[in-house]
Amino acid sequence: MKPFDVYPLMDTNIQRGLGSYIWDKKGRRYLDFYGGHAVISIGHSHPHFLKMIKTQLDKVAFYSNFVQNELREELAEKLGKLSMYASYNLFMVNSGAEAIENALKLASFKNGRTKVVAFEKGFHGRTSAAVHITDNSKISAKINKGFERTLIPWNDIEIATEVISKNDVCAVVIEGVQGIGGIHIPTPEFLQELEKLCKKHNTVLILDEIQSGYGRTGKFFAHQYSTVKPDLITIAKGMGNGFPIGGILISPEFDARHGLLGTTFGGTHLACAAGLAVVEVIEKENLLRNARLRGIQLKNALTQFSEISEIRGIGCMIGLEMAFPVKSFRKLLIKKFGVFTGSSSQANTLRILPSLSVKETEVTEFISAFGECLAAYKKQSNYESFSIRK
Ligand SMILES: Cc1ncc(COP(=O)(O)O)c(C=O)c1O
Repeated sequence: MKPFDVYPLMDTNIQRGLGSYIWDKKGRRYLDFYGGHAVISIGHSHPHFLKMIKTQLDKVAFYSNFVQNELREELAEKLGKLSMYASYNLFMVNSGAEAIENALKLASFKNGRTKVVAFEKGFHGRTSAAVHITDNSKISAKINKGFERTLIPWNDIEIATEVISKNDVCAVVIEGVQGIGGIHIPTPEFLQELEKLCKKHNTVLILDEIQSGYGRTGKFFAHQYSTVKPDLITIAKGMGNGFPIGGILISPEFDARHGLLGTTFGGTHLACAAGLAVVEVIEKENLLRNARLRGIQLKNALTQFSEISEIRGIGCMIGLEMAFPVKSFRKLLIKKFGVFTGSSSQANTLRILPSLSVKETEVTEFISAFGECLAAYKKQSNYESFSIRK
């Protein structure tokens, strides 16, 4: 048997990771400014993370969620405090898409509706309902299209008002910062108006913080740059620093009842140990502050390159609008300069997603490799009109 071929594989075989670096089979070192799809939050192989997982492994790795588990209580409590959502409840799952599925289910249980509003260029996962509210018809099958969904433009409150005012929308799902769509920040005013509209029309507001949450933008959740308090918040990626966990923060307005939600692997002992380690490191090492500072450093340094027409984002979630499609530039960055970055659904947008623990010197190293790569790319492409900013 062979693995089902679902992704174009890079010519790199990663064997080891430490902090912001990863090493391949040949022992070559790479600077990781991508974190395997924005997953690495506290850095590769953080000693506290390893210790917590190894210690737990020696006790018990798994028992399902019908037995008491004080690790789950502890994780919920620490996460509640750190995220400033202490009054919410936590439901743990295994991935981002599963968090979205369950959030939509909770919303529909609450108001009995089925229509979902999401956003153009949005991404919410590849499973049943999550893929249907994702703006990419190529990855959605016929079986996924089982309910009405409307995709509306980003930051456009007039259209949002028109659609939500019909009083038939079950949920609005919005990313804290649009990730795969190319790093787009919602304005605080837009989010706040959206919240008012949802309240007025009995629509559930779901903030998808799967990529933008867990400190990536320098606040625990990206939407905390506004005053909004969503009904449901979905989390995954950075939550486990590579351990597959996800969750939903559920407002106290939602009544729990037995059997409402469930999953065999959600919130196991090992998963909770990994999740606890991440929360503890974020707090102890003040990684929200570091993410903010490194983001400022990155953005300031990137302004020197006239080949970038726009620098978007905040903290460790930066999008660069380049003067050319970034596909081969990204490859060159990896191959010749040993630096990992991310693409997006927009051909000219590069995503930069270092861990929240990235060091000042590593940002400097990135900027210097980026500059050298730009020069090499221009020479190789024999293209002098890349400069688009005066
Ligand atoms: C904003 C957002 N939501 C949901 C998902 C889906 O998460 P997962 O791949 O863990 O199912 C992703 C994944 O990239 C994402 O970026």
